[in-house]
Amino acid sequence: MIDSSNGSLADMPYLQNQVAIVTGASRGIGREITHQLMARGIFVCAGVRDPSIERRAVERHRATDLYREINLDVTQLDSVHKAVQDVLSVFGRIDILVNNAGVSDGENDALRLDLEVFKEVMDVNLLGAWRLSEAVIPAMTINNYGRIVNMSSTLGSLHHMNRATEPVYRISKAAINALTRVFAARLSDTGILVNAASPGWVRTDLGGPNAPRSVQQGADTPVWLATLPEGGPSGGLFYDRAPLEW
Ligand SMILES: NC(=O)c1ccc[n+]([C@@H]2O[C@H](COP(=O)([O-])OP(=O)(O)OC[C@H]3O[C@@H](n4cnc5c(N)ncnc54)[C@H](OP(=O)(O)O)[C@@H]3O)[C@@H](O)[C@H]2O)c1
Repeated sequence: MIDSSNGSLADMPYLQNQVAIVTGASRGIGREITHQLMARGIFVCAGVRDPSIERRAVERHRATDLYREINLDVTQLDSVHKAVQDVLSVFGRIDILVNNAGVSDGENDALRLDLEVFKEVMDVNLLGAWRLSEAVIPAMTINNYGRIVNMSSTLGSLHHMNRATEPVYRISKAAINALTRVFAARLSDTGILVNAASPGWVRTDLGGPNAPRSVQQGADTPVWLATLPEGGPSGGLFYDRAPLEW
């Protein structure tokens, strides 16, 4: 059963019939974002790279008509275009995009640049979000409505950047913050709102078991941004629904 607490169609009737794409929905925060959006009555097209690996989560979601799995590798332009076309051919619209897929460079050292690692992390974290945004914006523009949420991190905040761990990851998240500003400015005369979210340090494969926050806490701000009412903010970076320093 879907948990409809913390916001429902009765509270937010404008969400009725909305269609979302969530990237990196196979596990972690992306899976929870999928769950929370469905709890608000939104059709979610869950982007997964390998549809065979996440049977357990999929079974849980499949109990509802609101869930549809799409094959999506954000580093492959063909995959991005095919996924977006598949969604449009079924639903005819895309209202929400959550660019959640992300990878880290872990123990990498900023003084020993591994160009392959750099390219791989930027390809997923920055270019993946760029490819998806470009692909969905025409459909959003037709309806003069859209919510794009880019998963950032406090590690990407220049204001908070006083350590050198995960250097490429940090730079990729600083870059996605810039992407958020650029796209928000480019789309300022449309009904499309573009924002970035920091989920905090969350217990996932990426965050590790010692992180203090749950996936439910991590998903809350991106879901809030994905369901903003008309007139909501655009071009911001948020943590726990409050602005975070860039
Ligand atoms: N956890 C934290 O503490 C934390 C903190 C700040 C920000 N974030 C951000 O939150 C987002 C989700 O993180 P998480 O902790 O949930 O990570 P996670 O559990 O490691 O999950 C990462 C997700 O990204 C997907 N992914 C990786 N490469 C992909 C690609 N090329 N195409 C499509 N999907 C791809 C993975 O799919 P597969 O299953 O196919 O590998 C997986 O679904 C990331 O953007 C991350 O940077 C996390």
